Amino acid sequence: MEKTVKSLYYNEKCNPIFLKYHLRKSDIKAIYSIIGDVFFHEEFQRRLTDEFPHHGNITVGEHIMEVTVVTYILIKKYNLNVNMEYALLIAMLHDMYTRPWQNTGIKKKSFLHKHGFVHPIPAALNTCKLYEHLFKTPDGKIDIFKSRVILDGIIHHMFILPVASLDDSLENKFEIDNYETIKEINPELLAIIYESCQRCKIDKLEVSLCPSMYPEGNVVSVADKYVSVHQLENLESTIALLGFSNPNVGKKDNDKRQNSLESIKLNFIRRILPYIIKIGEVVKDNQLCLKRGK
Ligand SMILES: [Fe+2]
Ligand SMILES: [Fe+2]
Repeated sequence: MEKTVKSLYYNEKCNPIFLKYHLRKSDIKAIYSIIGDVFFHEEFQRRLTDEFPHHGNITVGEHIMEVTVVTYILIKKYNLNVNMEYALLIAMLHDMYTRPWQNTGIKKKSFLHKHGFVHPIPAALNTCKLYEHLFKTPDGKIDIFKSRVILDGIIHHMFILPVASLDDSLENKFEIDNYETIKEINPELLAIIYESCQRCKIDKLEVSLCPSMYPEGNVVSVADKYVSVHQLENLESTIALLGFSNPNVGKKDNDKRQNSLESIKLNFIRRILPYIIKIGEVVKDNQLCLKRGK
């Protein structure tokens, strides 16, 4: 933690986010006590650089930090009965995909293989590869419950968009750019990823369409959308969310659209948060199943 405060990116990239949300020093300390391991890893630090642009003029790392801060605030403000540690880790890891997605020149063969529908999978695979220790108990075993909550939260964070139904096929049928990572990660964690991707599967489209099974994932999903609505400054960025090329990343917005985005953002939190939390609770109680097909 001492070292971490001195980090260049802590000061340059994260302080504006903490100021924007009026976080107190005690809040920042509480957040870093949970996310420090992830934040100071070189792979996360890379995502705070211009190598990884996100929507608007920010980096993927800044987006992730903002989602993490909003997740923290939502849990505290609404006094949500969720595990703060698990929720903040989901927030930190939900977009740890491998490559910046804008104009990569990679042509996907299927619409449903585009960034918006598959990126939670590279994020989950990278998480298992880079941060396996987060899933382990002190005696070195995989903590199955914690692993399920975190990985399921990452996999389904895009709900109401579906996610590709990854399975144990040897072929990279979803055109995932870090598919070889599958060979490198803990088999117990990989099995949890497969299980999560198969839940609520629409067989014909080979996608899974459901929110996370756990409220921790649902809160991050809401925080991600809240932050993204604010960051989607133009139509091109909105379209780009689905994985299309976006030549106008970074383009500034006009006042009119900015105002309407502000009101969308405010309404969003009021209306959608209780709804998504409710869905999470109901799914958890097995009273609702969105499963189609088999
Ligand atoms: Fe995402
Ligand atoms: Fe995100």
